[in-house]
Amino acid sequence: MPAQDVLVIGLGYVGLPLAVQAARAGFRVTGFDTSAEIAAGLNAGRSHVDDVSAAEVGDARARGLRATSDEAEIGPQDVIVICVPTPLSQADGPDLGAVRAAAVAAGRLLRPGTLVSLESTTYPGTTDEVVRPLLEKTSGLTAGIDFWLVFSPERIDPGNPVYGLVNTPKIVGGVTPSCADAAAAFYGRICEQVVRAASAREAEMAKLLENTYRHVNIALVNEMAIFCRELGVDLHDAIRCAATKPFGFQPFYPGPGVGGHCIPIDPNYLSYKVRTLGYPFRFVELAQEINGRMPAYVTERAAELLNRNSKPVNGARVLLLGVTYKQDIADQRESPARPIARKLRARGAR
Ligand SMILES: NC(=O)c1ccc[n+]([C@@H]2O[C@H](COP(=O)([O-])OP(=O)(O)OC[C@H]3O[C@@H](n4cnc5c(N)ncnc54)[C@H](O)[C@@H]3O)[C@@H](O)[C@H]2O)c1
Repeated sequence: MPAQDVLVIGLGYVGLPLAVQAARAGFRVTGFDTSAEIAAGLNAGRSHVDDVSAAEVGDARARGLRATSDEAEIGPQDVIVICVPTPLSQADGPDLGAVRAAAVAAGRLLRPGTLVSLESTTYPGTTDEVVRPLLEKTSGLTAGIDFWLVFSPERIDPGNPVYGLVNTPKIVGGVTPSCADAAAAFYGRICEQVVRAASAREAEMAKLLENTYRHVNIALVNEMAIFCRELGVDLHDAIRCAATKPFGFQPFYPGPGVGGHCIPIDPNYLSYKVRTLGYPFRFVELAQEINGRMPAYVTERAAELLNRNSKPVNGARVLLLGVTYKQDIADQRESPARPIARKLRARGAR
């Protein structure tokens, strides 16, 4: 019999779209978030996430979606999906505090046959080495025998009008093949295509490979932007021409730095894990250095433009157009607009 009761833990940019789509697919969905404000807002039909409208929340509510911040209100579940944040810790490694707390909560709620899916981005090995022992200890059950455990990376692209949760292929990596079977059956009811990874580790690595690939390629064009200007080359035009090649090239564009939750942060999880082997992940560290210097470069260019008009930065009025980390969204997390504003203000600009 197909699973019926679904619990989504963490109702943010990742968890809310999933909760809404699962309700649409016919599941009885409960959303659990430690923020009472978020739970109350959703229960009142409000959305706090760009890509989910109030109408979609209303529709999901009509189909039975309910949100809570009180774990005591939640009963046993057929499926539990963990979508909590994985910020960087002080030491630049991943802070798995929320993932651990969610795994303990899931452990209390799972019963024989429950599927647990971790969607939070993290380093390879987390599902098997961190989440699995917490679930097994809290529940007294064994993954792969009594319940199913997978990693399934979220690939949401906020503000993308074409690709969303339903039509982006969904990767599932089980700690055992039976775990992947259970996850393929669940996500197959929500997403058009499910892709099976060899195990949870490959699914974890696939997500970090996707984000590292973008991080490194953005750094490549950012570095090129700086010397192209000195060489008198219009890099945007060069990219436009290169992008006409129908194979073997994907365009990336220079900018004032990288923002959002994924690109500036996720590759750190991988470099953290590689460092435990005793050597650095040089591509990621170089990309971080280059992208991290872009706000200072943009500030310097603004000063040059003012100078060309015989104006000092001190006292100049400067308008920053676009403070979110990319177009058509409201998310300002890690936006390079902030360090640019800080640097300009430090030089006296208004
Ligand atoms: N935003 C994206 O575009 C995106 C894309 C792919 C992957 N991810 C990954 O997905 C994960 C979630 O990201 P997000 O952007 O949805 O974060 P978010 O901050 O928007 O949402 C997370 C939610 O979890 C809640 N929460 C925190 N701790 C909790 C706990 N212990 N129990 C229950 N709820 C808790 C928070 O209150 C918040 O509402 C992260 O690992 C992130 O790297 C995000």
